[in-house]
Amino acid sequence: MRVNTLAPMAADTPMTLRSLDAWKRLEAHNAEIGSTHLRDLFAADSARGERLVAEAAGLQLDFSKNRISDETIDLLAALAAERGLAERREAMFRGERINVSEDRSVLHVALRMPRERSLVVDGTDVVKQVHAVLDRMGAFCERVRSGEWRGHTGEPIRNVINIGIGGSDLGPVMAYEALRHYSNREMTFRFVSNVDGTDFAEATRDLDPAVTLFVVCSKTFTTLETMTNARTAREWALAGLGGDKAAIAKHFVAVSTNDAGVAEFGIDTENMFEFWDWVGGRYSMDSAIGLSTMLAVGPGAFAEMLAGFHAIDEHFREAPTERNLPALMGLLAVWYGDLFGARTVAVLPYEQYLKRFPAYLQQLTMESNGKHVTLDGTRVDYETGAVYWGEPGTNGQHSFYQLIHQGTKLIPCDLIGFCEPLNPLGDDHDLLLANVFAQAEALAFGKTADEVRAEGTPEALVPHRVFEGNRPTNTILARRLTPETLGSLVALYEHSVFTQGTVWNINSFDQWGVELGKVLAKRIVPELQSPDEPELAHDSSTSALIRRYRAHRSGG
Ligand code: F6P
Repeated sequence: MRVNTLAPMAADTPMTLRSLDAWKRLEAHNAEIGSTHLRDLFAADSARGERLVAEAAGLQLDFSKNRISDETIDLLAALAAERGLAERREAMFRGERINVSEDRSVLHVALRMPRERSLVVDGTDVVKQVHAVLDRMGAFCERVRSGEWRGHTGEPIRNVINIGIGGSDLGPVMAYEALRHYSNREMTFRFVSNVDGTDFAEATRDLDPAVTLFVVCSKTFTTLETMTNARTAREWALAGLGGDKAAIAKHFVAVSTNDAGVAEFGIDTENMFEFWDWVGGRYSMDSAIGLSTMLAVGPGAFAEMLAGFHAIDEHFREAPTERNLPALMGLLAVWYGDLFGARTVAVLPYEQYLKRFPAYLQQLTMESNGKHVTLDGTRVDYETGAVYWGEPGTNGQHSFYQLIHQGTKLIPCDLIGFCEPLNPLGDDHDLLLANVFAQAEALAFGKTADEVRAEGTPEALVPHRVFEGNRPTNTILARRLTPETLGSLVALYEHSVFTQGTVWNINSFDQWGVELGKVLAKRIVPELQSPDEPELAHDSSTSALIRRYRAHRSGG
C-alpha cells in the first residue's frame, strides 16, 4: 500500500513558518545577536574556532565564522525539530512519496546503499534493482575501457560523448572534471548539452566516428535539446561510418527511465541502462546517468564515490542536528536568507578540479528550492531558495571578491579546500590554502579605520581601505579530493537543500518552473520557420523580436 505521509504532515504542521514558536524565538534572538560583530564573538570565546566545528565522512566543517552563538544553533535545531526534519528525512529514506506534486518517492539515497542492504518500496527491493544496473554498467565499462568493445569498423572506443542536459549533463560533466585525475587518460570525454549547434560541432570537430561512443542520457527521453543533439549525433556517426544503421548499436548507448522512447529513437534496449522515476534529474549523478563517469574512472572508483555519498547519508540520518553537517549548512542558509536578507550564497572551491562544482550546485539548489508555494499550495510569506553561484579560488579573488569584502550585500560564502594537492608543484598548494584561510579571516574580521590609519594611510583614503568584516563563511576542509570525498561533498549539499526545503515546507523535488518557457518555445518554433509571414498574437515585444529575427536570420 502506498503511504503519502506528506498530506497529514502538512496538515499537522502549523500553517506558516512565521507562526512557529521556534521561529519567533529565532527572530527575537536575531534581534539580539544579528548585529554582533564576529570580532566580538571571537574575542569573547577563545575556544570558538575549535568548538564550532563538525566532522563527518572525512569532511570538516568549520562554521565558527558565522554570525551565530551556541544559542543560535540550539534555536535552529529547535526550528528543524518543530518543522519535522527528522520525520521528513525518515519518510524520504523509507521511500514514501514525499514529492507530492509528482506523486513520487525521492530515493537518490538508495542509489548508494551497499549491496547487502534492502529497501522495499511498493513491493520491490530497490537496492537490488540499483545493484543489478550497477553490475551491468560495470561490465559494460570494463569492456569499453579494456578495448574489448569494438566500434563498427572493429576499432576500440577512444572517445566518449555524453549527450544530456540539466541533471543528465551537469552531474556527469562536474564529476568527470572533478575526477579527471583518476580518469583513463587514453580516452577523451566530452559533454554536449546545448541545443545551440555549436556545442555539438565543437565537441565532435576533431573526432573520428569509428572510435566514438555516444551516451545519450535523458530521464524522460523527450527533452528537446537532448533529442535534437542525439539525432545530430546519429547523422554524424552514420555519415562517418558509411551509412550502415547497424553501426548505431556499437556507437550509441542510452540512459533513461523510458525504454519505449529509447527503442523508438533506434537504440537497442540491450544497450540501455535504466534508472527510475524516484531519482530526480538533479539527484541522478550516481545512477546510470553516471555512466560516463564510470567509463572515465572505472567501476572501482565509481563505487568509492557512491560510498562517499552513503557515508554522508548515514551521517545525515543519524547525527544530532548540532553536529550534523548538512543540517547545519541548511539551517545556516535559512538563518541568513530569512533573517539577514541574504539573497545569494557563494560556493568557492579552492581546487581547480572542482571548477564545474558551482554550476552543478546551481541546478541542485535552485531547481530544488526556487519555489514560492508550500507543500499545500499556499504562497510563502518568507524567503526561500537563495541564488547559488561561484568560481574556483583563487581566480574569483581577482574578480568578484571585491563586492563580497566591501560591497553593500551580505553574501555568505562556502570555502572548500583540500589539505593534499593532486598535482604538487613547488609550494603552490601552500599558497592556495593560505588564500583559503586568509579570505575567511579577512571576511570575518576585516580591518578597522584605526588599523588602516595605523598603517600611515592618508585620511582621505581611510574609508576606502576599511574592511567592515562580519562577512560569514563556512570552511569545508578535506584531506584530498578523491572519488569518495566528491561523493560526500555532493551529498552534503543535497541534504543541505533537503533541510532548507523542509524548514520552508516546500517541495524540493519538483521543477514545474521550467515548463512554461518550454511550452512557449514550442509554440514559437513554427512561427520562426513558417515560409509565410505568420500571424503573431504575442505581446508587442515578443512579436517584434520574432519579426526582427525572421528579417535578419541567415544560414537557414
Ligand atoms: O530542466 C528541467 C529538467 O527536467 C531537469 O530537471 C532535468 O535534469 C533536465 O530537464 C533533463 O531532463 P531529462 O533527463 O529528462 O532529459
